[in-house]
Amino acid sequence: MCSGLVQQGFVTVQGHSCTDALAEFEPEGLAYTVQGVPWVYQAKAYVMLHKPAGTECSQKPSTYPSIYTLLPPPLRQRPTKGAVQGVQAVGRLDQDTTGLLLLTDDGAFIHRMASPRHHVPKVYEVGTKHPVDARQVQRLLDGVVLDDDPKPVRAAACAATGECALRLTLTEGKYHQVKRMVAAVGNRVEVLHRSRIGSLALPPDLAPGQWRWLDASDLQALRA
Ligand code: URA
Repeated sequence: MCSGLVQQGFVTVQGHSCTDALAEFEPEGLAYTVQGVPWVYQAKAYVMLHKPAGTECSQKPSTYPSIYTLLPPPLRQRPTKGAVQGVQAVGRLDQDTTGLLLLTDDGAFIHRMASPRHHVPKVYEVGTKHPVDARQVQRLLDGVVLDDDPKPVRAAACAATGECALRLTLTEGKYHQVKRMVAAVGNRVEVLHRSRIGSLALPPDLAPGQWRWLDASDLQALRA
């Protein structure tokens, strides 16, 4: 628990105000409130955020507000073995990209999800400037060469979903990969939204800017 919040009287533990930042409690199942909001202790935090456009996935943003401002203080600053460390985004989305973003303070989970060896598929809904044609779709499936690597990168799946719309599945996460791949086939990304990671889809009732905990079945969907 953040000692500042405790000392300022913002925290109740099991129904009683707690202002002693050094007080110790059995953490398993501990119920507490921070500024009136109820929490249950979790050893590791796993959350999803519906990233809105115009936000940066950085703790120190350069131009737009940080996605971390959308999370409550107990998630931004969590105690882990004496040190206070917050959740971190699992990979990054561009400032103008919307959709499903995972955050956790479990370093092994971040490593596993980000590792190219695990090939976790990520599904993007792409709005394009020019109409999508069958040749562009085929080239994205066959593989295109980007400027930083002679090895072609290919979409694991790709289909037109409208005149100027594509659904693209990638199993790696190079810098600006969707935008660069679409540019490589002669089109241009105008709108980009991540709808799914592994078998976990962004819930339709999670509005842009909202977050929620991942439950056991969500974590299972990410492992599947
Ligand atoms: N590819 C991109 O070009 N941008 C993103 O934000 C994610 C994937």
